[in-house]
Amino acid sequence: MSRHETTPPVSTTIHLRPVEEPSLETDSAAATQAVARILGDRCAGGEVIGLVGMLGSGKTCFVKGLAEGLGVASEKVSSPTFALIHEYEGRLPLCHVDLYRLNALDALHGLGLEEYTESGGITVIEWADKAPAVLPSHHLLIRFEPLEGDRRRLAFSPHGSRYELLVAELLARWAGHRMDPR
Ligand SMILES: Nc1ncnc2c1ncn2[C@@H]1O[C@H](COP(=O)(O)OP(=O)(O)OP(=O)(O)O)[C@@H](O)[C@H]1O
Ligand SMILES: [Mg+2]
Repeated sequence: MSRHETTPPVSTTIHLRPVEEPSLETDSAAATQAVARILGDRCAGGEVIGLVGMLGSGKTCFVKGLAEGLGVASEKVSSPTFALIHEYEGRLPLCHVDLYRLNALDALHGLGLEEYTESGGITVIEWADKAPAVLPSHHLLIRFEPLEGDRRRLAFSPHGSRYELLVAELLARWAGHRMDPR
């Protein structure tokens, strides 16, 4: 059999359609806050939300909106620095964690985050990528990507069907809000 007569190898390549990552774009801090307010309003209790993105990408701005959606005045929200955790009382308790200054995973043991993530409150964690182990298997991860000027892309990775539903609701409501921002 010559080289030309050999059976060509069966291709085993499977072409998967790329899965669209749910995302949206905002063009101001107020818009990012409005997105988060919608999410806060939809939270039912027990949600864990990780925020990931470079310095100044809008994570704390998002937490302010989330707080508003839970009935907490946004002026009360500031990034926890030395304490790492702030708690706010709203319609549901909001636990705001910022892991930026966390430099040893050991420090996590003292935080007692499980207490919050397993409680009926909402836990939002800035710099969640610094300690991904703190996130329970079901959670929502939001990546903040600065675009030019004041534009930011917010990309959502829902882990668990409850969070898939929450993101779908958020995107639908955000589309409605942009048509009629009252
Ligand atoms: N589209 C936008 N969304 C969010 N913030 C924006 C936007 N455009 C401009 N900004 C500005 O970017 C800054 C975001 O600051 P913020 O403290 O929320 O960032 P951060 O991600 O929490 O940073 P850090 O990692 O330092 O905590 C604010 O000054 C805000 O006014
Ligand atoms: Mg911050």
